[in-house]
Amino acid sequence: MPALGTSQGTAGNASPGDRPGCARAPGDTGAGDTARMQEGVAQPVLGSCRESCCILEMGGDTGDSPVLVGAAGGPWGAAGDSTASPGQSIPRQAMAARPAGGQKPQKPFHIVTPVLESLSLSKAAGTKVFMKMENVQPSGSFKIRGIGHLCQDAARKGCRRFVCSSGGNAGLAAAFAARELALPITVVVPSSSGPTPVRKLQELGATVEVYGKVWDEANSRAQELAKTEGWVIIPPFDHPLVWEGHASLVRELKDSLEDKPGAIVVAVGGGGLLAGVVAGLQQVGWQDVPIIAAETLGAHSFHEALKAGRLVTLPDITSVATCLGAKTVAARALECARECQVISQVVQDEEAVRAVQQFLDDERALVEPACGAPLAVLYSGRLQRLQSEGRLPSPLRPVLLVLCGGSNIHTAQLRALQSQLGLR
Ligand SMILES: Cc1ncc(COP(=O)(O)O)c(C=O)c1O
Repeated sequence: MPALGTSQGTAGNASPGDRPGCARAPGDTGAGDTARMQEGVAQPVLGSCRESCCILEMGGDTGDSPVLVGAAGGPWGAAGDSTASPGQSIPRQAMAARPAGGQKPQKPFHIVTPVLESLSLSKAAGTKVFMKMENVQPSGSFKIRGIGHLCQDAARKGCRRFVCSSGGNAGLAAAFAARELALPITVVVPSSSGPTPVRKLQELGATVEVYGKVWDEANSRAQELAKTEGWVIIPPFDHPLVWEGHASLVRELKDSLEDKPGAIVVAVGGGGLLAGVVAGLQQVGWQDVPIIAAETLGAHSFHEALKAGRLVTLPDITSVATCLGAKTVAARALECARECQVISQVVQDEEAVRAVQQFLDDERALVEPACGAPLAVLYSGRLQRLQSEGRLPSPLRPVLLVLCGGSNIHTAQLRALQSQLGLR
């Protein structure tokens, strides 16, 4: 994996924020925008596109600048609720929590991750692919960016105990942040997550409660617990401060990359990463960069929401990528697709797990099936297909993959998944 330059950026070094807006005029498919902009002909059209500028595909066989937050509601009533409410503009905060009374601001818990080129992914995708290595974050995934930011904010406001519902990586990030902040935490984990996250959470000192089969059920329990005085719920994906924390990833990219990418590939579970990436793109003025949003079939609530033009609740989560398993995405995720060009791609579980194995062999890094979804988009020729359909430009500037990582995987588990899916 050749490294791309040095990654010297700090988390709080955003360029002046940009006005959120759609990068294309209503009705424009946008196919030629990027090429025209490279030639310096076209400027991105910012403004009020409320048309369907999102593109869907079911794959396989089947500072101080204002940041707009979601117009639709979300469970924002806990930590940070003095900062924003649905539909408001919130002041973009520096990434470090700002304590009252002139104390030194706390450093964020995430690290500035490297950006590396993957020769194998570049070969498979037919376009240079860079990876933002979020798998090396201290909690094993990008989640520490947003969750750490939210926990710091809640601690500063007097939180006495955190409560988080998570099938894995958000809980690990919250437990990591709680340990750093010397505050207790209860993490409610659905039974579908299996024993690995429970053990890891306990190792971080968290109290773990297994409740319900899928995340939505665990989340109801966490909300009950959070009614206790002084306890603060840490939503795994649906909170403006979580998105703000995740946005630091794009600000770092602005420092690492010579030019904006041709596309950004992300996994979508509840949509927090997507919302953070969109916030970051808007902050650095890259809001015309297309986003490829990858999900697995059986956890494809974002895809269904895009198709319907409204939030859709899946009857069940049937994918092995349990970390992508939110039956309903955040309302903000759907809004993001109205503000930026978002191309939805749904892969089969088999493709995601095959991609995890392929990536392990190619790059010697083991990631979760949740991260296998965006990898599968690149390994499976979907990028070239999007280009041949005119939905992405040809040639394409280097593509940026958010290698979201994930701690809930080990080799025995990968073998078990392969057996379960008939891949061995
Ligand atoms: C490894 C990994 N990738 C991607 C996601 C999806 O993130 P989000 O729920 O913010 O869409 C998750 C969610 O937990 C995850 O753990």
